[in-house]
Amino acid sequence: MAQNVPLVLRLIASSVTAATRAGKIIRDIMSRGELGIVEKGKNDLQTEADRSAERCLMASLSQQYPNLTIIGEEGGSHCEVPSDWIVTDCDHNVLSQQCPLEYIDISNNDVVVWIDPLDGTAEYTQGLLDHVTVLVGISVKGKAVGGVIHQPYYNYQSVSSELMGRTLWGLVGLGIGGFQREDPPSDRLILTTTRSHSNTMVNTTLDAFKPDEVLRVGGAGHKVLLLMEGKAHAYIFPSKGCKKWDTCAPEAVLTAIGGKLTDIHGNAYEYHKGVEHPNLRGVLATARGVDHSSFVKKIPREVCDALS
Ligand SMILES: *[C@@H]1O[C@H](CO)[C@@H](O)[C@H](O)[C@H]1NC(C)=O
Ligand SMILES: *[C@@H]1O[C@H](CO)[C@@H](O)[C@H](O)[C@H]1NC(C)=O
Repeated sequence: MAQNVPLVLRLIASSVTAATRAGKIIRDIMSRGELGIVEKGKNDLQTEADRSAERCLMASLSQQYPNLTIIGEEGGSHCEVPSDWIVTDCDHNVLSQQCPLEYIDISNNDVVVWIDPLDGTAEYTQGLLDHVTVLVGISVKGKAVGGVIHQPYYNYQSVSSELMGRTLWGLVGLGIGGFQREDPPSDRLILTTTRSHSNTMVNTTLDAFKPDEVLRVGGAGHKVLLLMEGKAHAYIFPSKGCKKWDTCAPEAVLTAIGGKLTDIHGNAYEYHKGVEHPNLRGVLATARGVDHSSFVKKIPREVCDALS
């Protein structure tokens, strides 16, 4: 591998191929039809696809970066994985990019990789396949700066399985690849929020914005994709249910194209090694060109107090 390329770029380049491989595993398990669903907690499912995709990502990245802190949603054990699940080649387009100066000299100790092998598990089991993403987020000194979002079922209703799926990446200060950004409409307000974890506080908050439309979809990765595709202006989740591995990659990619993701008070989350995993103060993300602070101001007072 190109050892002279800075660590952050190499990591993104490796994550693009590993996430794409994990996506193939997710599709293969679905087509075999044996999902192996277990309930981790209330409203919290895990399938054979979550477990296998995580083992693929963990094994592929830790083989190439043995001293790096990698945190995965499923707490991935380091047991044996089939050799064809370990991919160590890199995306050459990413490797050929110019690394922003601020990331040239970072070392292993500054980096934490956050993996959600299958974001949108409930939707995966229910056949809402385009809600599913594979997320690899890269934090440097506690900030979400790099990310890969792989959507294994992108275009699944219109193309054959070899052409299905897409992988996009972003690095703050550099930009994004694998994706064409669009702006949301200017004459109406579209919000996106949780599909499976709705509650009164979520509904109260959405009502305060008087939206023209609310898209209730699964997955943090998928919701941020909607912001980048111009299909929604803001992603609002005033609840504690989402974790650092759900938001690290989406935050980095969204920030890289000029959007923003914070807690509902407008404050950034930290992604260093010792941080608590739940995003206890909710999630508020806005598309590029949308005034984030005006959304923060409209969150109802009682909701802010409940998530302080
Ligand atoms: C990992 O850390 C060990 C012990 O500090 C060191 O000997 C080794 O060279 C490191 N490996 C890499 C690939 O950085
Ligand atoms: C929130 O609003 C949605 C859509 O109107 C509705 O289906 C759901 O039952 C509401 N949830 C609660 C807890 O009120």
